[in-house]
Amino acid sequence: MSDTESAAAWDVYARAEKPRRQANKWGERTWFNWTQYADHGPGAEVLALGPGDSVLDLGCGAGGNAAHLAALGMKAVGVDLSQEQLRKARERWADVPGAEWHRADALAYLAETPAVFDAVYSVFGAAWFCAPASLLPAVHARIRPGGVLAMSQRPPREGCYGRQAAYIPRGADEDPAIVTRWDHEPEAWCSLLRDHGFREATATVLDAPRGGKRTVGTLLIRAIRGGSPR
Ligand SMILES: C[S@@+](CC[C@H](N)C(=O)[O-])C[C@H]1O[C@@H](n2cnc3c(N)ncnc32)[C@H](O)[C@@H]1O
Repeated sequence: MSDTESAAAWDVYARAEKPRRQANKWGERTWFNWTQYADHGPGAEVLALGPGDSVLDLGCGAGGNAAHLAALGMKAVGVDLSQEQLRKARERWADVPGAEWHRADALAYLAETPAVFDAVYSVFGAAWFCAPASLLPAVHARIRPGGVLAMSQRPPREGCYGRQAAYIPRGADEDPAIVTRWDHEPEAWCSLLRDHGFREATATVLDAPRGGKRTVGTLLIRAIRGGSPR
């Protein structure tokens, strides 16, 4: 699948996606959300960053998470394939200094940028939609030793591992758009991370909020950039 086809598919997704709320349950205007549920799960502390640190969001979508980090004083760079997502990010977060947005494929951006980041993350984002064998070396090269890589995604369906087709609905009268994603069991992610020069790898399924109709949890993967890959 070409970048142009993927970008078109993700523009379909962006047009259907509901905007992030104006404020969360605590009345905050910006916040970090690793999961598919509102007001749920850990926050920016997963990234172990401080003001002035630099951070890269791979597949930033409409930019809510990167805008939150910028509001906390970090230099946040959001990269996304979808022009439509970035239009929303630029419009909604125009008044947040410290956030910048780039339209690019995540792997192409990682190959081209000279920057080295204090942390790299991806929330249901490009890290789920790029082959780990390409993504992990590319991130390793663009994150400082000791920096955090974290990514969240849906846990795999039992027995369905590796490259999977993911369907983006286009309505009743059109075929869905198709993208590909990579699903692995938690221990397989930890092993992949170790093989690519990351240490202290964890991959944990966070339960869905209690009492809701939806029950699928969130796989949160985190590791520290170590020395040279094995
Ligand atoms: C499910 S959305 C999640 C967006 C955002 N992280 C959030 O939490 O709302 C996935 C995003 O990843 C982007 N994406 C997918 N593959 C990508 C790639 N190879 N390079 C850059 N962005 C990509 C899509 O355009 C889309 O905006």
